Amino acid sequence: MARLSDDFIREIKYRNDLGELAASYMQLKRRGRNLVGLCPFHGEKTPSFNIYTENGSFYCFGCGTGGDVITFAMKIENLDYMEAVKFLAERAGMSLPEDAYDDSLGKLRTRIYEANREAARFFYQKLVSPEGSEALSYLRQRGLADRTIRHFGLGYAPDERFALGNHLRQRGFTESELITANLVFKSRSGNSVLDRFYNRVMFPIIDVRGNVIAFGGRIMTDQKPKYLNTSDTPVFNKSNNLFSLNNAKNSKSDALILCEGYMDVISLNQAGFTNAVATLGTALTPDQAALMKRYCKEVIICYDADEAGQNATVRAIDILRRVGLIVKVISIPDGKDPDEFIRRHGDKGHAAFQNVLDNSGNDMDYRMQKLRSGYDMNTPQGKLGYLTEGVRLLCELDNPMERDIYASRLSDETDVAKSSILEQIKNGMKRRSYNRRKSDFSQIQKDISARDDRVNPQHAAYLRAATAEENLIAFLVNNPDKLTYIHEKLRPEDFTTDFNRKLFEYFSKRILNQQDPMTALASDFTSDEQSKIVRMVNAGSDMPRTVQALDEYIAVILEEKSKPTENEIRNSTQDEFTDLFSRLKDNHQ
Ligand code: CTP
Ligand code: MN
Repeated sequence: MARLSDDFIREIKYRNDLGELAASYMQLKRRGRNLVGLCPFHGEKTPSFNIYTENGSFYCFGCGTGGDVITFAMKIENLDYMEAVKFLAERAGMSLPEDAYDDSLGKLRTRIYEANREAARFFYQKLVSPEGSEALSYLRQRGLADRTIRHFGLGYAPDERFALGNHLRQRGFTESELITANLVFKSRSGNSVLDRFYNRVMFPIIDVRGNVIAFGGRIMTDQKPKYLNTSDTPVFNKSNNLFSLNNAKNSKSDALILCEGYMDVISLNQAGFTNAVATLGTALTPDQAALMKRYCKEVIICYDADEAGQNATVRAIDILRRVGLIVKVISIPDGKDPDEFIRRHGDKGHAAFQNVLDNSGNDMDYRMQKLRSGYDMNTPQGKLGYLTEGVRLLCELDNPMERDIYASRLSDETDVAKSSILEQIKNGMKRRSYNRRKSDFSQIQKDISARDDRVNPQHAAYLRAATAEENLIAFLVNNPDKLTYIHEKLRPEDFTTDFNRKLFEYFSKRILNQQDPMTALASDFTSDEQSKIVRMVNAGSDMPRTVQALDEYIAVILEEKSKPTENEIRNSTQDEFTDLFSRLKDNHQ
């Protein structure tokens, strides 16, 4: 791996201020020396994302993600290390050293993008060739203009089992690259390598940077599965991408229209609604909601009219609201989905859908109506049931004006005094926020301690030693001038846990070489390790770091080091035990 020089990385970091870069994706407020905001990597309503301006690192106490400006770019733009460096270099008007591309995962990803692009070209050529005539007329019959077909790069995977594989191998792609890209797969016998897609109409999935990351393929008959999609690959994860976001992000609208299917999105585009997106064969995920939040303020849900679509709507409302999006809901008046609706209205598709959009209701109206339809409002039991569930729904609203409006409506509909409804909401909210905070908190604790165990498996067994080691490392990184002082009293061998020893050696070496300790964080450590290190280094950054505290860390580390482990005691012979015992005694003198 061609390692970028420290000087180059330092320059990248100097020219790309983390706070400034982050501010282009999210809102940040100053708190003391640090910046805080809502974490862009998970949905949250109270800010737990921190930027430590002093050393250019970030940490989210909500999801435990942390790192430096390169890590931030990797995560927010979904890039690997080399791609992120390139992204930041370009942003700062710097050019990359010539040999900087020798990064194996980055290389593989580039190869997969290239293979996918070539595959998309191949499918398109097949569609417009005689072989694809049936597929082409299928698409035209579904109302798509040739211009639309071209715009979305739709294609046809021919009815053969080796066509794409052979074509791509001729173009220099290896079998293993094509398997990793999920364009071909090994047959069960292992004797042949078959195309994943055949005899299907192909929908390329393109990310916001214009890379072809995956495909969906539709069968033209009633056979199953109706759609076949690319499985997850090093460049594709179906739960954090959206179909046609590459088009939607350029639309002038502040809102995105969220549909269920590829064809819905394509029909809407053809009718002039370029701000439509769809999930990729899964229910909406929090990651997708966070992704949308980067491009819009409001999401209009436009799912299928059937029961499955309506139930999915209720779940999507919740997920979208949680990341702070304004949510509206459209019900398709006639037809099963937006695609059918638009086709039914022919030339007037645009006007007809615009009319539906103009009449879209907000999400609370939708939920209240759906709730109400489940109760018989002519009976006291029905009213009571509606009231109880209605209050529960209103407890989830953060905006007091919104609560007030719907409390009035609930009061009108049930003839129960508004004041008593508001009272119930107040009680419910207290309970709810306590419960939620409690369960969120314990989940986060679990996740973070699982991660810490992965990074430093000895942490739990040697808690006292590990804690002192971490404090000492934090001290060293923040006070590099104390290196000599520390090394006079402490050697790496004195560390009890291997990970912390490795860190101690790593930072010591950098400081000795007069390098900034944190510069190469993103290239030298895994994502989990970085999160742990950033938390360690910034913990208690508002407390004074005195030499007394330092001496105490050193004392604890030495003391813990000489303690025999339980295993040593259990397995030791009498002589050894006496020896261990005297070692213990020595230490306490
Ligand atoms: N889907 C999928 N796999 C399936 C069925 C559906 O991945 N076996 C995904 C596709 O992304 C599809 C979306 O779910 O676009 C919606 O499915 P559905 O409503 O069944 O299909 P339509 O979009 O209506 O497809 P068409 O109009 O082509 O019949
Ligand atoms: Mn459809």
